[in-house]
Amino acid sequence: MHKDDPATLAAPALGTTPMPRQKMDAHWMPFTANRQFKQAPRLMSKADGMHYWTPEGRQILDGIAGLWCVNAGHNRSKIVSAIQAQAAEMDFAPPFNMGHPKAFELAERLVELTPEGVNKVFFTNSGSEAVETALKMAIAYHRVRGEGSRTRLIGRERGYHGVNFGGISVGGIVGNRKMFGTLLGGVDHMRHTHDLARNAYSRGVPAYGAELADDLERMVALHDASTIAAVIVEPVAGSTGVLLPPKGYLERLRALCDKHGILLIFDEVITGFGRLGSPFAATHFNVTPDLMTVAKGITNGSVPMGAVFAKQFIHDAFMTGPEHLIEFLHGYTYSSHPLACAAALGTLDTYAEDGLLTRAASMGPVFENALHSLKGLPHVIDVRNIGLVGGIELSPIAGLPGKRAFDVFLECWERGVLIRTTGDTIALSPPLIIETSHIDQIVSTIADVLKKQA
Ligand SMILES: Cc1ncc(COP(=O)(O)O)c(C=O)c1O
Repeated sequence: MHKDDPATLAAPALGTTPMPRQKMDAHWMPFTANRQFKQAPRLMSKADGMHYWTPEGRQILDGIAGLWCVNAGHNRSKIVSAIQAQAAEMDFAPPFNMGHPKAFELAERLVELTPEGVNKVFFTNSGSEAVETALKMAIAYHRVRGEGSRTRLIGRERGYHGVNFGGISVGGIVGNRKMFGTLLGGVDHMRHTHDLARNAYSRGVPAYGAELADDLERMVALHDASTIAAVIVEPVAGSTGVLLPPKGYLERLRALCDKHGILLIFDEVITGFGRLGSPFAATHFNVTPDLMTVAKGITNGSVPMGAVFAKQFIHDAFMTGPEHLIEFLHGYTYSSHPLACAAALGTLDTYAEDGLLTRAASMGPVFENALHSLKGLPHVIDVRNIGLVGGIELSPIAGLPGKRAFDVFLECWERGVLIRTTGDTIALSPPLIIETSHIDQIVSTIADVLKKQA
């Protein structure tokens, strides 16, 4: 549709795509301010490398890897051709009591990257499904080995674990929880670790707060360890505003889980596949959980896929009873979908060829210095970073939480840079192929926008 077409809405905002309003009515968009969007749509219709293009040809620098998923950059040839070839060869294979070779090949390839001992892969289609799967696995694990009283799940305030009922129950984002009734019973939450008073402008993990892991001891004192199945945390939280684990926190959590027989689940949906400069947060921090959830970067965002990685002993606990019976009554029609497996294999090849699973370690310091140059600009109250993750927290406008950051997001889009905001924090997670010139463009655009807002 040409922008001069009389059927379009009057005067769309600069750089947005004119669309007839009626064409946008049917799509109820997820996690979107639908009315705001449809008044001034932000559309993308092409992507390559570090960039998107709008339908009218405007180039947008991708500062968030799509949504923390396109780690190798867009439109990578190995991934594209793997998907094309698979679509032509076999569209679908039933995953229950049947298999296809690429599912097994992919699982073997994935466990080459996981920490020692984490060597079983259960496929899902998203991060949310991976979380539900891990929570069910944890509860069922205790039951199959004869400790069925361990059903309680411990999450953390401000945690984000997707949008399904288990995930929002262990999650700690009030807006995602308050609309949906009483959620799962038997869930409790540790305190979050965000502490601007002690940790503002930390470079890398903050110094203070490891003692907050001892909240797990309080949970044990309150509920008794014999009722607790698992604790789930994001090693680095993204959706809740880029929260880094205090130095020593994850180690302490691991020790407490060991002490009390509680399974430790790392939700690595955003930290998986190189985001911190190592294949996983578990390998970066050298803390091995019992279960890990992944999604997003597993296929470079190209085809929906998620997975749970489990330690051998968890899997083995289920392998009892008559051999013709299903051991774990759980799975999805599209678990290990052939297109997703092909895409993931192409993705792993691309990561390996380009050294992307460790590239954030070498680009991290460049990113860190650029981000911290924003200190002192109007409204900035914190800058935090790890690997190729950045958080810039802004002071909220009184009475309008989230509005300041959202306005920065809109203005950056107009200036050709895609950022993401959560609350009043700008969350950056660029493709791992990023170069210094891209970092400069992202950070200088944010700086210019903040100065203009002063
Ligand atoms: C830590 C974490 N867990 C789970 C999810 C949910 O993943 P999905 O949107 O693929 O269901 C996300 C998504 O951002 C996430 O960041």
